Amino acid sequence: MSSTTVQSLPVSTSAAEEPAITVRNITKMFKRHRSHEGILALRDVSLDIGKNKFISLVGPSGCGKTTLLRMLNGLIRPDEGEILVHGQPPVPGTHMGFVFQSFRLLPWRTIHENVAYPLQLHGMGKDEIHERVMRYLEMVGLRKFAESYPSELSGGMKQRVALARALVSEPDILLMDEPFAALDAQTREFMQFELMKIWHQRKAVVVFVTHSVDEAVLLSDEIVLLRPRPGQVSEVLKVDLPHPRWDYDARARPEFVELRRHLWERIKEMVAADPQSEFFNRDGKSDHAAAQD
Ligand SMILES: Nc1ncnc2c1ncn2[C@@H]1O[C@H](COP(=O)(O)OP(=O)(O)OP(=O)(O)O)[C@@H](O)[C@H]1O
Ligand SMILES: [Mg+2]
Repeated sequence: MSSTTVQSLPVSTSAAEEPAITVRNITKMFKRHRSHEGILALRDVSLDIGKNKFISLVGPSGCGKTTLLRMLNGLIRPDEGEILVHGQPPVPGTHMGFVFQSFRLLPWRTIHENVAYPLQLHGMGKDEIHERVMRYLEMVGLRKFAESYPSELSGGMKQRVALARALVSEPDILLMDEPFAALDAQTREFMQFELMKIWHQRKAVVVFVTHSVDEAVLLSDEIVLLRPRPGQVSEVLKVDLPHPRWDYDARARPEFVELRRHLWERIKEMVAADPQSEFFNRDGKSDHAAAQD
């Protein structure tokens, strides 16, 4: 049951200004091994993402969140429809940072060398690379660990390195696929606040995938709820809580509680209506249980 206080938006949420990202009627079918039938991962998905907005993609497992994120980055192409980033088709590696769930650090490189890697690919000079790397390590609180190796760091620290590596090229778009899912509850909460602070310092478009409804409401300006099989936009919801949200107990606000309840009800309805649900993920845990880990 929807509440009257939850504000649903049209898919075009940035009427006042040119969006940073435009997704127009995209459809994506994946081929299956040893089968003539494909998997329709996304069908006719349209979305506008405004400049400097923090957007979360939520929805049951298999609804196409990762597929959409990889398309925004230009890693895979839609079969139909169009994606424009600042008016151009996306090219991997340009003005976009990508943070994966698994940290994907290179174990044989120091923390400094890991963060420096994207800048080396861009051919930046050594001194400038050093200045930038140290600035971003400072931002994520890891300056002292520049010469350490990933194996010497905790999970939360590794994820902060991954965040620094995504930010170091100063992208104006940051794509994050369940970046905090592998962290313990306390570290996760700490990272949520770190991300809020970094986003506050240097604004960027953030497209953030999460299974945690709580995390989505805490961090986002807008939440895109996707439904599965085929993946489609179910609703776009506005989170009308003032920034910065670390200054007060955002989770205690009635708007927060109401939005979280609304999203959970919608997701539960989707899962109940789908007998083939991938609600139980590969670890045999429900999305909710996984989100609590
Ligand atoms: N490379 C691929 N080959 C075949 N099928 C794929 C591929 N990638 C995704 N799919 C299928 O497309 C659908 C959407 O997958 P996707 O990974 O985007 O979902 P998701 O919402 O990110 O799920 P989760 O929450 O479990 O990460 C799923 O049915 C999945 O099995
Ligand atoms: Mg995924």
